[in-house]
Amino acid sequence: MFSNTLNLLNIGALTVFIIAVLLLLLVERELGIDGKLGNKGKWLLSASLGSGVLAFAFKLSLLLLMVNMPEQAIAFYKPASPTDTVISRPKPNINTSTPQVFSKNYVWESLPNSAPTPEDNPSSPEKIALGKRLFFDKNLSLNREIACASCHDIDTGAGVDSLAVSRGIHQQQGTRNAPTVWNAAFQAVLFWDGRAASLEEQAKAPFINPIEMGMPSYHEVEQRVFADKDYRQAFKQVFATDEIKITHIAAAIASYERSLIANDTPYDRFVRGDSKALNAAQLRGMALFESIGCVLCHSGANFSAAALDNGGAFYRIFPARSTFEIEHYKLNQDTGRAPATDKQGVWRVPSLRNVALTAPYFHNGAVNDLEEAVRIMASVQLAIPTGRHGDLGQSQSIWSASTQTLQYIESRPLSEQAVMDIVAFLHALSSDRLKKRYAHKPISQEMNDEHKNPLF
Ligand code: HEC
Ligand code: HEC
Repeated sequence: MFSNTLNLLNIGALTVFIIAVLLLLLVERELGIDGKLGNKGKWLLSASLGSGVLAFAFKLSLLLLMVNMPEQAIAFYKPASPTDTVISRPKPNINTSTPQVFSKNYVWESLPNSAPTPEDNPSSPEKIALGKRLFFDKNLSLNREIACASCHDIDTGAGVDSLAVSRGIHQQQGTRNAPTVWNAAFQAVLFWDGRAASLEEQAKAPFINPIEMGMPSYHEVEQRVFADKDYRQAFKQVFATDEIKITHIAAAIASYERSLIANDTPYDRFVRGDSKALNAAQLRGMALFESIGCVLCHSGANFSAAALDNGGAFYRIFPARSTFEIEHYKLNQDTGRAPATDKQGVWRVPSLRNVALTAPYFHNGAVNDLEEAVRIMASVQLAIPTGRHGDLGQSQSIWSASTQTLQYIESRPLSEQAVMDIVAFLHALSSDRLKKRYAHKPISQEMNDEHKNPLF
């Protein structure tokens, strides 16, 4: 194919050369003897004729190249796609033992039936039962009204309270939305900003958080547990201890949380081989979720680069771009891991499992619909304008001084149909049993009503 083109190019060049020589001879003959042009004029005329011939030759060879190798010729002019160079694609996890579905650049994995357990906190049915009791125990908060389960409704709420921001003792409002505890056992770091390194570490925090459970100290929590005869017996059986410590309490709760696994989803059934588990819209959404780059961050079996064993970058800048939605939903006020003075926050990539059951969305719970959350992600994190927000459709260049790279990001709008397809796919990440017993009505933040904007 390539040598063919070269041959054609050679013939083309030869023809052009012959035509050029003939033309020059013609000029010389016509103007040379009785022509009024002087020597200088003759050369000027020959040069202009010659350059015309050369331009023609160049066009001819380009045309030949495009006819023979259309893809290469066109690719030469095409700007790099944003997903190629902004962040490298996650590497397929070839060694995983779970079933997989392969697409061009990505491997879809299903969630295993059990989460990895740390060596220093082995699980047992008794420990899980003890952890469950602690998780549901309101007696362990200052006014004995709030349990872990008050904000993480395991039974009818898919592990959340469905409030924009949680309410703790005395109805005090926090500043962040409660993430689900279902499948949290697969996350390598916990909290929106990933500040807890394990479930064990995380489980201690809410007890002494003044807004959440409000206990004055871990010691007081230990005493409340110790005061109960059944607890004393259970701790003796599980931890072989007479002295109940906060670390035992947290270990039991973490064990219980590792039992909260929900992989009974249409997506997992599809990846395990049931080709009918996803409908047409969900399949389109799944393909889009990969092709437009959601998998750059929401990758792997738990749809989070911050999942155990995923080897991804746990934290990402959010918002990556500032759009009017960011201002409207006040998504840049809390900066997560970044200093409070920064314009952009840094956050752990959250899992998207059961996301259709855990509205409202984002760290401040300011967004009620999943459609809107998807539009925001596309435009803010991937610079892809969405149909409704046509004004975002500006291509842009990104210069990185540290890597000395200049990159062009072409803006290709995402249609509303495409947004709906991605949402349909996200619905396929809901556990059947959590969905069946789900009985919440997500409550939006008053903030949203206060700032109603005619655009929305
Ligand atoms: C007042 C409501 C409230 C109570 C009570 C509460 N939580 Fe939470 N929980 C939250 C909120 C809000 C967050 C997110 C906070 C953040 O990221 O800064 C959270 C985060 C978590 C996470 C992290 C999930 C993830 O994906 O990162 C886990 C696990 C968790 N809580 C377990 C517990 C346990 C165990 C208890 C009881 C000891 C508890 N929670 C009590 C509201 C609550
Ligand atoms: C560059 C990384 C990145 C990309 C790409 C990305 N996300 Fe996100 N996503 C995040 C981060 C970080 C958050 C947490 C934001 C916050 O702090 O509220 C998030 C949050 C979300 C949420 C809200 C989750 C919740 O529980 O509230 C949804 C839904 C979501 N992403 C979907 C998507 C979809 C769909 C795409 C593709 C269009 C996508 N994301 C692309 C990093 C990314």
